Amino acid sequence: MTDRLTQSPAPMVICSREELRDVRAAHLHHPSAVVMTMGALHKGHAQLMNVARKNLDSQGAGHLTATIFVNPLQFGVGEDLDAYPRTFEADVALCAAAGVDVIFAPTPAVMYPNGDPQVTLAPGILGEQFEGAARPGHFSGMLTVVNKLLNLTAADTAYFGEKDYQQLTLIRRMVRDLELSAQIVGVPTVRADDGLALSSRNAYLSTEQRAIALMIPAAIRDGVNAARSGAEAQEVRDVALARLQQVDGLQVEYVAVTDPLMGPPPEQGEARLIITATVGKTRLLDNSRIDFAPRTADGDQ
Ligand code: PAJ
Repeated sequence: MTDRLTQSPAPMVICSREELRDVRAAHLHHPSAVVMTMGALHKGHAQLMNVARKNLDSQGAGHLTATIFVNPLQFGVGEDLDAYPRTFEADVALCAAAGVDVIFAPTPAVMYPNGDPQVTLAPGILGEQFEGAARPGHFSGMLTVVNKLLNLTAADTAYFGEKDYQQLTLIRRMVRDLELSAQIVGVPTVRADDGLALSSRNAYLSTEQRAIALMIPAAIRDGVNAARSGAEAQEVRDVALARLQQVDGLQVEYVAVTDPLMGPPPEQGEARLIITATVGKTRLLDNSRIDFAPRTADGDQ
């Protein structure tokens, strides 16, 4: 990464569609990748960029775009659109260190020149559950902007974090259902040393609240271990929930065990444990792969 800092030029920062078109034209024959963000960048975002850079480098000359856009369409009434942390200068420095070539940072007027779009994407049944139930309209706004940014950047590959697992699942589904050509790559969650999944919204937590929030990764670890020791989906959920309920000040919104596509949990093999809880006013999302041990015909392990 130090090499990148010393060798690569600072990323070009562009805000208009015209500049983006010129960049696209200049790199027409190179593999291209995009990492979409809402800014307030941290090591989780950096990891997406590092993985993208590495994959591009392994293909020869590749072009990496990061987008920074706090998308009003995916925020509900009363959510933190105005308060969302904005740290543009630090974001540019992080992108430079991660080998980003171009930062596309449009204003809402550039992204939505005709005001709120009339034609948007419907996320379907999965988009109505979990985060979709808690945040009506969120996934429609998210898919709409991701679709627009895939079209505008024309990237061959787009990187998204497993941290927002339902978002990643819906984006993959959109690409399949709408015949989009981009390849979607999921990147494992980056955590702070204390175990909390990195999130721009962690900046809202006081020291006391952060200590409470650590019950979430603890519950995830308990669930992972329970599955490994032979627990079934319901038991895994109960174990995680019990851990979350050990502490005051944590409001559990949901604890779910699903299959990798967020359908009903399988009896054996790969699954997902997903937790959302609120500390103070901050909603925190976490999840992990879990693996159910193979079961014999009579139901025992
Ligand atoms: P944002 O919350 O800024 O996240 C941008 C990308 O970084 C997402 O793919 C997210 O899953 C990933 N990410 C966040 N924290 C991470 C962590 N700790 N480890 C690994 N990856 C992490 O998600 C959005 O923005 C928006 O919905 C967006 C896709 C940009 C559309 O507006």
